[in-house]
Amino acid sequence: MTDFKELAPTPSLHVDAAIVRRNIQRMADYASAHNMQLRPHTKTHKSRQIGRWQMDGGACGLTVAKVGEAEVMADVCNDLLMAYPTVDEYRCQRVARLAQRVTMRVALDSELAAENLDRAATAIGAQIGVLIDVDLGYGRTGLQTDDQAVRLGQFVDCCGGLRLDGILTYTGHISGPAEKQAVGFDRVHSRLEQLLAQWQRAGLCQDIVSGGSTPSALQCHLAACFTEIRPGTYVYNDMNTVRGGYCTLDDCAARVHATVISSTVAGQVVLDAGSKTLTSDLCGPAPDSGYGMIVEYPQARVFRLTEEHAQVDVSRCTFPPVLGQRVTIVPNHVCVCVNMQSNFWCHDGADATELLPVDARGLLV
Ligand SMILES: Cc1ncc(COP(=O)(O)O)c(C=O)c1O
Repeated sequence: MTDFKELAPTPSLHVDAAIVRRNIQRMADYASAHNMQLRPHTKTHKSRQIGRWQMDGGACGLTVAKVGEAEVMADVCNDLLMAYPTVDEYRCQRVARLAQRVTMRVALDSELAAENLDRAATAIGAQIGVLIDVDLGYGRTGLQTDDQAVRLGQFVDCCGGLRLDGILTYTGHISGPAEKQAVGFDRVHSRLEQLLAQWQRAGLCQDIVSGGSTPSALQCHLAACFTEIRPGTYVYNDMNTVRGGYCTLDDCAARVHATVISSTVAGQVVLDAGSKTLTSDLCGPAPDSGYGMIVEYPQARVFRLTEEHAQVDVSRCTFPPVLGQRVTIVPNHVCVCVNMQSNFWCHDGADATELLPVDARGLLV
């Protein structure tokens, strides 16, 4: 049997298909048990293959951030949500063209975005679904008051090229232990109930109420108004989700393989995976833990990254890795790490290994 894990040059990204399938199944089971649709965010894997598995696993559609990602995922899914405002005309035109091929929805929070999207859709006879983005605590995009949201909903309702489908919010501010999350969802739920009452009085469509992110994904039923959830990171997981307490190392499907390329300094080894591979992201819940975790050496600490080098403190390891040895790293933030790779080795059982492209890598428009 060929050991592809050993043959693959380093640094390289390796994905365990069995773990991916288990993560997909777990989230799909949760969503269906709570009568919610699952629309995974594909910014984590950027791969047609993984998107296809998510659709086969019962997802109602896929979420993307960028129109380039949407164009890629349209090959494996005919129901896409861009959970990202399209303000500029260039992007709006590409979304409109895509809407001629698949069901396309966009979340937006301004009249400018709606106007430009409407103009692009009308020009080619397309129709684009819209979710009004409301901010219920994260403080990034999204309208701040119910009145603003209803006004924009009414505006969209009058646009011939657009179809108002409901509301979207991002609950990235809800994290931590279940009891703490329950308090956060309580607030989200009552804000949504208030908004939906006003929404209904205005006769606006509320077919879709979209929420969710990985840390709080399994508590989303507490916001009973959600009709669908959009977790992304759950498909691979990373040290952010492990140290946040949302999964275990066994649930981490994507790992970077690296090789010890120098060991001249006492108590230190240097790996060939620097910030161009692992990214400079620290671990949110544990910022002092270093730049990812070396699975075989939990006592080691990746304490400094330069572009192509990782310096690892191995002074607490009884038998530290030696020159030429390969190690496996779970990155802190897998979504950005994946976006740094052109391809990944997908291991599906002992004999089935494929080198797959990160199809939407670098598609930031
Ligand atoms: C709008 C939106 N929805 C969903 C997600 C998915 O969140 P997570 O990666 O925590 O699963 C993100 C993540 O950035 C997001 O920005």
